[in-house]
Amino acid sequence: MTTALHVLILAAGKGTRMRNGRPKVLHPLAGRSLLEHVLAVAGELDPARVVLVLAPGMEEVAEAAARSGLPLSVAIQDPPLGTGHAVQAGIAGLPASGEVLVLYGDTPLIRARTLQELLAARRAADAAVAVLGMDPPDRTGYGRFRQEGGQLLAIVEERHADPELRRSGLCNAGVMAMDAARLPELLAAVPHRPDKNEYYLTDIVELARQRGWACVAVEGPWQDGVGVNSQRQLADAYQLFQDRQRERHLELGVIMPVPDSVHFSADTEVAPGAMIEPYVMIGPGVRLEAGARVHAFSHLAGCTIEADAEIGPFARVRPGSRIGQGAKVGNFVETKNAWLGAGAKLNHLSYVGDAEVGEAANLGAGTITCNYDGFGKHRTAIGAGAFIGSNTALVAPVNVGAGALVGAGSVITRDVPDDALAVTRPQQAIREGHAATLRARYRARKTGAGS
Ligand code: UD1
Ligand code: CA
Repeated sequence: MTTALHVLILAAGKGTRMRNGRPKVLHPLAGRSLLEHVLAVAGELDPARVVLVLAPGMEEVAEAAARSGLPLSVAIQDPPLGTGHAVQAGIAGLPASGEVLVLYGDTPLIRARTLQELLAARRAADAAVAVLGMDPPDRTGYGRFRQEGGQLLAIVEERHADPELRRSGLCNAGVMAMDAARLPELLAAVPHRPDKNEYYLTDIVELARQRGWACVAVEGPWQDGVGVNSQRQLADAYQLFQDRQRERHLELGVIMPVPDSVHFSADTEVAPGAMIEPYVMIGPGVRLEAGARVHAFSHLAGCTIEADAEIGPFARVRPGSRIGQGAKVGNFVETKNAWLGAGAKLNHLSYVGDAEVGEAANLGAGTITCNYDGFGKHRTAIGAGAFIGSNTALVAPVNVGAGALVGAGSVITRDVPDDALAVTRPQQAIREGHAATLRARYRARKTGAGS
């Protein structure tokens, strides 16, 4: 028999240490908010219900969470009086059977496999409480475990811990798995802490021990438990997250000569055998297929780079772009909402937006789709095998047929039929010897002025 799992995510804290008035859990970390990271992990555990604990006035957070697609409800803690009080608000309305797992909205690097181990350890010991411990390089601000002979006796908040416990005790990551049947009795017994006007969730460990109920501590990778309370810690969490992404992609077989300079988003998908050169920034919604190559200093977001296509160096591929198999987007090229067919080339200094480019079409240096008239966006379609001369402006909406040729420097405002030639520049005039005549005249003027 499997017991129902209920996940509580505590996020009622004001996050004042972030110093910008924005709800802490909505701060972004690699293309997702802190809360979205935690919700994604909660979802991996297949919970019967997820309860998000918020303070009054946090509607923006509730709306963001509702988009997760999880079986989610929101509990309001009014006013927020500490983590113990938050769990009490969160379990109201939940059945008093099964398991309750508490996660913090400000602990975004937690992983499902770490949580599975914690849940398994609680079940194995039939413990009232199982807590995740860690040994991070910077221990400031965390509660400490008091342990004896494999039993967890208490969690002591840092400010109440003696120097010896501060030094030697495992740090409390904040994640707890609990037996739902025994939890209400423990929460009801949590004392009020007048110094902070709070009820500490951490006090339930000692209360369980007083009742003779088992409590277990499970040490996990410290990165999983890193909490974000300040901009500094958010930046640190970002680095840890990137390190993980880099390792994961290297293990998968992605070629990255300088992994530390490549930045991923949480949802980046890269096939083995794709190559990413140094200093590449990958925003949300990017997929690279096998053999795709992204050269240095490129910026990608919301795009698919098909097999063997090449990007950059110094390219910007924006949302809605799909770069076909073996196609090329070269230096100082920007694409947006653009589909490039297989083998199409867009090699230098171009902007292609709201466009469809056929297979093997070649767009010369400086080709610009003029897609915006100040009011609306318009589309450009370029047929397969078309050749667009350098410095051409394609004034959308406009179609260039398959196999058509557009002369360099043209401003194309009307459709070009298949296999037609279109040129819009004026005729070239030649005046034999006139350059020499002009030079002589200018030289004479300059010497005359200097004397
Ligand atoms: C807490 C733990 C500490 C642990 C650390 C791990 C307690 C008393 N302390 O400290 O042992 O090492 O987390 O990161 O539990 N929250 C509410 N309602 C409240 C107060 C907080 O929902 O009334 C939420 C916050 O939004 C946050 C989480 O609970 O997501 C933790 O609160 P925070 O104030 O950050 O606790 P810490 O001081 O970090
Ligand atoms: Ca915290």
